Amino acid sequence: MKGNIVPTGREVFLNNKEFIVSKTDINGRIIYVNREFMRISGFVEADLLGKQHNIIRHPDMPRGIFKKLWDVIAKGDECFAYVKNICKNGDHYWVFANVTPDLNRHDEIVGYFSVRRKPNQQAVDYFAQLYRQLLQAEQQAGTRGALDASSALLNQVIDEQGFDSYESFILSH
Ligand SMILES: Cc1cc2nc3c(=O)[nH]c(=O)nc-3n(C[C@H](O)[C@H](O)[C@H](O)COP(=O)(O)O)c2cc1C
Repeated sequence: MKGNIVPTGREVFLNNKEFIVSKTDINGRIIYVNREFMRISGFVEADLLGKQHNIIRHPDMPRGIFKKLWDVIAKGDECFAYVKNICKNGDHYWVFANVTPDLNRHDEIVGYFSVRRKPNQQAVDYFAQLYRQLLQAEQQAGTRGALDASSALLNQVIDEQGFDSYESFILSH
């Protein structure tokens, strides 16, 4: 299914009481989704379970953001991110996501949780334009250099704004 969805440009908005939850295995394969996830995205369990989480990736999302996410969570830390996701019919929705590791009793990572909530509109406006710049940097650099170019630009923006980490940068918006 991935790649066949054509974005419509139409936005769907979450309300304050809607939380979109999913759980993955250690490789990012989806093993649980809640009802809100299915209602808002239009996918059903059969579309999602066992699939990589990039099944809901929107083409406007830069690769550099997901690299950052995986770097943080694979170390066992929580990660926050503003994410634009695609619905089954091509519509999209913005979320503020909190991704956390799921640890077993030996404190080993066995999977990850993501809880997504309605983002504030000011943050969405900011991150939409930042992601446009990151995506442009990725496209200019070509496939091989894309990730480095977008990571470098993201780190530069974080630095220029005086933050010492991606986390404090995200949480300030
Ligand atoms: C718990 C968890 C939740 C995730 N949620 C999303 C999501 O909502 N949208 C998304 O595009 N990627 C999400 N990802 C990241 C994907 O695994 C993947 O890195 C991303 O979609 C980019 O995929 P690609 O580089 O293979 O295209 C999530 C990963 C984890 C571990």
